[in-house]
Amino acid sequence: MTTSTRLPAFEKFIQELRAAWSELPDMHARMKKGASLLEELVKDPSVKDAAKSWPSTEGRKNLLFYEDPDFNFAINGVVRVPSRKGSIHDHAHAWTAYGILEGTERLERFRRADDRSKEGYAKLELESVTEGNAGKVDLVPPFDIHAEQGGPTRSVAIILRSERVAGKITQGSYDLEKQTIRQVDGPIQVPYEMTA
Ligand SMILES: [Fe+2]
Repeated sequence: MTTSTRLPAFEKFIQELRAAWSELPDMHARMKKGASLLEELVKDPSVKDAAKSWPSTEGRKNLLFYEDPDFNFAINGVVRVPSRKGSIHDHAHAWTAYGILEGTERLERFRRADDRSKEGYAKLELESVTEGNAGKVDLVPPFDIHAEQGGPTRSVAIILRSERVAGKITQGSYDLEKQTIRQVDGPIQVPYEMTA
């Protein structure tokens, strides 16, 4: 599909990301800029309008809107059902900016309370809970342990990743009660064009 059918606000977002990636050498700086661009995108009425028809991503799926051929950053979408229960995970070495477009979600952050010496064992403590509503963007550093919990209504988020993790390497999945960590494949990537 050519760029002519792409939603103009989304095309602008991609071009501004590409400019930031070529200008800034450091991934943290790129992602900080990316998060501020994402904040504009998730407030854009044309994007909000388009999101009304996006399909649910329940069953560990992500919509894949874009993956940059030169800089490797990836843009995903998630559409959550009401009261969705999120699992605890990390995104391996990738940075993630998580922007809520519709509805509300809660981002729970955890810290490791063990010394990581025992294979498969992870003791976690809840560090913080951030209530997010439409227009809010969270920047999640590499290996940060977190869970996204759904609100009372359908919720939609756009995710900017420094690179696609799913399909390339595994990422950590945690069980708070059992105190375990295991490596799992990332969500299934469903290519999806963000059109008007
Ligand atoms: Fe996540």
